[in-house]
Amino acid sequence: MKKKSSFSCRVRMNFFISIILIIAFALLEGCSKKESISGKGKEMRIQEETFGMTPEGDSIKSYILTDGKGIEAKLINYGAILVSLKVPDREGNSEDITLGYETLEEYVQDKSYFGGTIGRYANRISKGRFTLDGVQYTLAANDNGNHLHGGLKGFNKVIWKPEKIESTDSVGIKFHYLSKDGDEGYPGNLSTTVTYILTENSELKIYFEAETDKDTPVNLTHHSYFNLAGSAKRDILEHELTIVADRYTPVDGRLIPTGEIKSVKDTDMDFTNPMSIGERIQNIVGGYDHNYVLNKEKGKLSLAARVYEPESGRVMELYTIEPGIQFYSGNFLDGSITGKGGQTYHKHYAFCLEPQHFPDSPNQPHFPSTILKPGEKYTHLIVYKFSNR
Ligand code: GLA
Repeated sequence: MKKKSSFSCRVRMNFFISIILIIAFALLEGCSKKESISGKGKEMRIQEETFGMTPEGDSIKSYILTDGKGIEAKLINYGAILVSLKVPDREGNSEDITLGYETLEEYVQDKSYFGGTIGRYANRISKGRFTLDGVQYTLAANDNGNHLHGGLKGFNKVIWKPEKIESTDSVGIKFHYLSKDGDEGYPGNLSTTVTYILTENSELKIYFEAETDKDTPVNLTHHSYFNLAGSAKRDILEHELTIVADRYTPVDGRLIPTGEIKSVKDTDMDFTNPMSIGERIQNIVGGYDHNYVLNKEKGKLSLAARVYEPESGRVMELYTIEPGIQFYSGNFLDGSITGKGGQTYHKHYAFCLEPQHFPDSPNQPHFPSTILKPGEKYTHLIVYKFSNR
């Protein structure tokens, strides 16, 4: 009898312990779900941390967006910069496929625009001058007498106001910045937002929006340096590139468009079919640094480029609504920069594909206009879609 009652007592104890454990697990699960931003992809998360302090004493935050399937994008509210982007290879190993730095100090000093948001004007404006509504404007001449990527303190060097974004199937972060009238020589107050969204479909989307109170040129883009082999292990010459463009805008010795729009057919510029970047690069003086005129309907989101890295199997597709894309083959990297993980960045150790309006459009009336007027909204969308082969 005694034995029986102690047995049933133990059974009851075990039962109660199990109930307590089940309740504890349920509570823990509930807490971890609260940290997740998304409802659908339960492992999609945003993680906020302190990244560093600017020389002026502003605290800069980092935001890691995770999709729970191996993609992880780290952003900071200095320059609205994409600091790293981890993407799985065909074996499922996630590696960082962008160049950049580990510290804020290095981003403050950076002259390569690693991962940065570029504005107000991506690429070059000849001699840093343009005339609009009868007024001549003079911008900073920060690149051999020309204006490049927004000037001395472009959008990659300013502090953006962050706001986390929640949705049912994605996680994101929206950055706001008000560029004041006269900033870097440009007219009008330009209220700008850049929103990074990581979706459950292995896409990183970047939305750009801007509004002005005076006519002004606007041409924003994103300037990540990619190496799909991961962590800048080797050069990008074996990467296979397709650019959906039958034409490009040739440049002069200062990298300013000559104004012509030329066919790529039967030239070393042709990437309409997949071709390794290194195949013909020796025939291009200085390497690729050209704006391609995308085959597309105005303002329609469509495939602009596809890149495949044979060893890792990583594939990156880039969609945009912009009319052009700058293909830059990392020609100015010269081994003088040591980046993340102590890697040295040599020539052609990364490529950039920068969706944009054509360079120098404010001085080239036959190029699509980049002038934003009060009451209008500038919008631009880039989608990077990742997969494996
Ligand atoms: C762009 C330009 C290049 C170079 C890089 C940044 O891609 O077209 O000429 O200035 O940015 O170094």
